[in-house]
Amino acid sequence: MAKKREQWGSRIGFIVAAAGSAIGLGNIWRFPTVTGQNGGGAFVLLYLVLVFLVGIPVLMVELSLGRKAQRNPVGAFKTLAPGTLWKWVGAMGVAAGFIILSFYSVIAGWSVAYIFKFLLGAFTGLSPAGIAQEFNALVTHPVIPLLWHGLFMLLTAGIVVLGVAWGIERWNKILMPMLLVLLIVLVVRSVTLDGAREGVYWLLRPDFSQLSFASVLTALGQVFFSLSLGMGAMITYGSYLGARENIPGSAVYIALADLAVALLAGLVIIPAVFAFGLNPETGPPLIFLTLPAVFQRMPLGGLFGAMFFFLLSIAALTSAISLLEVVVAYFVDELNWSRAVAAPVLGFAIFLLGIPSSLSVGPLAGFKLWGMPILDFKDWFTAVIMLPLGALLTVIFAGWVWGRRRALEAAGGGRPFVLADFWYFLVRWLLPVALAGILFSGLSR
Ligand code: PHE
Repeated sequence: MAKKREQWGSRIGFIVAAAGSAIGLGNIWRFPTVTGQNGGGAFVLLYLVLVFLVGIPVLMVELSLGRKAQRNPVGAFKTLAPGTLWKWVGAMGVAAGFIILSFYSVIAGWSVAYIFKFLLGAFTGLSPAGIAQEFNALVTHPVIPLLWHGLFMLLTAGIVVLGVAWGIERWNKILMPMLLVLLIVLVVRSVTLDGAREGVYWLLRPDFSQLSFASVLTALGQVFFSLSLGMGAMITYGSYLGARENIPGSAVYIALADLAVALLAGLVIIPAVFAFGLNPETGPPLIFLTLPAVFQRMPLGGLFGAMFFFLLSIAALTSAISLLEVVVAYFVDELNWSRAVAAPVLGFAIFLLGIPSSLSVGPLAGFKLWGMPILDFKDWFTAVIMLPLGALLTVIFAGWVWGRRRALEAAGGGRPFVLADFWYFLVRWLLPVALAGILFSGLSR
């Protein structure tokens, strides 16, 4: 009765799709923001180290688990550790996918709206206060943001319903090169602005006095969020891999692509912000508030602004696809739904779950969970609790339940690989301790 599992069409297709999952709002919106808040160069250096020490090893674990089990996150733990509680780690991942996508799609919806705002010249001639008003008018409207949010979910579900090779892989192969071209155009535009040099220095010159223990935690959280780790997205993408795929090699490519886009996005945003004398430490609204001010003051700014938010929307779409795929794969594998039903129904359910997040910036602003508006609460709860906890339990599984022989065999596909012993040391010892550390400090915030 077992239907043959879908597979990626090619190695490069898989790498592009996994990079598409990794590269998203995390790189273009979150990375420049947290870098801005943590002093620039030193934080970038710290992030770089953590990508190699934490990001790549955890990414290898998730891809290996998925390929070995050929299942969604819940099914993967059920297959690898039958009759145990480990399946709940997978279940937490599926739940995280549901929750993350429900606010991710709200922010992505704003990004899509901004494409049209720039094309229609909505920001032309506005002062920073006027831009803030324009932003607020958009996000606090009771209906309009829901339409953009709905449109974005419709696109996401429309691609996921087409399947792994024909939908996810093919669309990533169309969208990711577009993203790269747009990014390069924007980097060139930004670093050639008068006064941009300050910003480039600020981004590259490490000033370690700016770093605190909290920056280390922020950087670690950023690594997970950015590489789509800790909730089974990479387990799911790994489950469509064949036995011959070189997981360590692919993991390095995916992480390097993700890192490169984060750095390039930093090079678009920070120098432009400097060139126009704005403050890089603005925080989350940085790109929605400061960038319109930046673009508005340069020649052809409307066009560059529309390009930037098109880039951001593409990046968000290829990540949203992977979030929805985690949930869809669970319903398809474990509950025997067909993909044709699962993608639209679950996409719609996530849209509905997103409505309170959207309204929490407007009419529902007064309603708080743990003192936070709903959208901020979901972001905090998933990024600070669910992802680190999921990653922690996943590395414990590989290092302590699987053990050395099975872990090395699953990652290498039976072949030896470079630094295999070092990888296993990280998975068994260093990462469990480090991740438990993040989690506790996150909780005692
Ligand atoms: N990595 C994505 C980003 O950087 C977000 C994401 C998180 C996607 C978790 C999938 C799973 O925007």
